[in-house]
Amino acid sequence: MRLDIVTIFPEYLEPLNVSLVGKARLRGQLDVHIHDLRQWTHDRHNTVDDTPYGGGPGMVMKPEPWGEALDAVIASGAGPQGARPTLVVPTPSGRPFTQALAVELSERPWLVFAPARYEGIDRRVIDEYGERLDVHEVSIGDYVLAGGEAAVLVITEAVARLLPGVLGNAASHQDDSFAPGAMENLLEGPVYTKPPEWRGRGIPEILLSGHHGRIARWRRDEAIRRTVANRPELLECCDPAALDKHDRKILAGLGWTEDPEGRILRPQGGMEE
Ligand code: ADE
Repeated sequence: MRLDIVTIFPEYLEPLNVSLVGKARLRGQLDVHIHDLRQWTHDRHNTVDDTPYGGGPGMVMKPEPWGEALDAVIASGAGPQGARPTLVVPTPSGRPFTQALAVELSERPWLVFAPARYEGIDRRVIDEYGERLDVHEVSIGDYVLAGGEAAVLVITEAVARLLPGVLGNAASHQDDSFAPGAMENLLEGPVYTKPPEWRGRGIPEILLSGHHGRIARWRRDEAIRRTVANRPELLECCDPAALDKHDRKILAGLGWTEDPEGRILRPQGGMEE
């Protein structure tokens, strides 16, 4: 996969040299190009922002440097088939970044990131490239960062670990919280390793039993308990067919009820506390 990132803080992307993403780069699985947006400015001060039309606080990123930068990046990769990148614009006003979107992006051969600082990029840039490229405006959560670079790091790590051969154990994404499949709407439960006793705390007996079926069931029960505690809304919107009899028993024990269609409802009045 090729990744291009255009930013006014290239040094912010240094973490892409480390750990999983750094190793994927060294192995040639990820071809990362970081560009300084100011390269495409033509004034003495390398200006990338200006005051907003209509007034208001803060500054807006000017369209001209972004236009030149994106044209140059796109042209640098246009092969004989005219391959076009997918443009990812991190913004708190974007669509939520989810595991499903990480999977979708991991299937693209080429991503270009346009992280903004200040109040964002002049809208015409997104409209212009939206006519030529698949553009995703993406938010990594309901909070406002000082810029999109940290979001680029988050998105890149979530996408890179899904690329073939990047994670040592390919099975390890199957049980991820939010991974599509049987565990789609469940958070991952607790995990343990050696030693078997630490500060007087043991590990759940079942994990030593060697009964794979019972261990899988215990893990699912724990996943349900954790989801109830931390993200009950994930269970409420889940497909009733995704829950088996045992799941329903665990949920009933936690005070959840079922409607006539088999959809589950959290207890009213805070029984889950
Ligand atoms: N830029 C600033 N805040 C952001 C957020 N929550 N997600 C993505 N990009 C951002």
